[in-house]
Amino acid sequence: MTAQPSPWDEDYRRRGNLWGGAPAPLPEIPAGAAVLEVGCGNGKTLEAIARRYPRVAAIDSSPEAVALARRRPGTAEIGFAVADARHLPFRDAAFDAVFLVHVAGHLPAQGRKAVAAEVVRVLGPGGTLFFRSFSVEDMRAGKGTETEPWTFRRGGGIITHYFTEDEAAELFSPLVAVSVRTHRWRMRVRGEDLPRAEVEGVFRREG
Ligand SMILES: C[S@@+](CC[C@H](N)C(=O)[O-])C[C@H]1O[C@@H](n2cnc3c(N)ncnc32)[C@H](O)[C@@H]1O
Repeated sequence: MTAQPSPWDEDYRRRGNLWGGAPAPLPEIPAGAAVLEVGCGNGKTLEAIARRYPRVAAIDSSPEAVALARRRPGTAEIGFAVADARHLPFRDAAFDAVFLVHVAGHLPAQGRKAVAAEVVRVLGPGGTLFFRSFSVEDMRAGKGTETEPWTFRRGGGIITHYFTEDEAAELFSPLVAVSVRTHRWRMRVRGEDLPRAEVEGVFRREG
């Protein structure tokens, strides 16, 4: 299924690679694992995944993002698709590992539930989900127009939902939570030392 154009497209078209810098350290996954990144953006995390794992697929609803990700070094073998995370174009149990990095937080509550259900569906028995999204402790939580509880729209129309650890564990609750924790760091903005925080979860589908 081809997704509708979104404010993301506009952003990628105007600003190119929105996400730079070093990706978060990758977890250990068995060498031959089939890996999916949902919402790959311009390929920051994906490039690191592809360097370590040969069997990789990636989707994003933004054609602009997919075009940028395709240009990253080492991504020639990746099976890319422009697709909506709420309707993944893969068969049941197709993957051993799924990465969902700063994507679920950009959907409203119903959308987050749909993405979670799709991730559970495409993970095989024993498969692992690696999840990251901003936390309610992040400096940006509360900024913008609140569209749903802990969900804020800022300039450009993109929404961000801020998670608690319990909420993340509940969202993926058909999966077993291996670890759910908050990763905190500080960021200096115009002379002020501000808190950044994201919820990081590892979830396993029981075999
Ligand atoms: C913050 S970026 C993700 C960055 C990427 N995962 C990384 O680690 O570098 C969020 C991405 O989610 C995508 N996205 C938002 N809603 C989506 C949906 N319903 N289905 C698929 N992708 C979506 C956007 O197009 C955007 O590229």
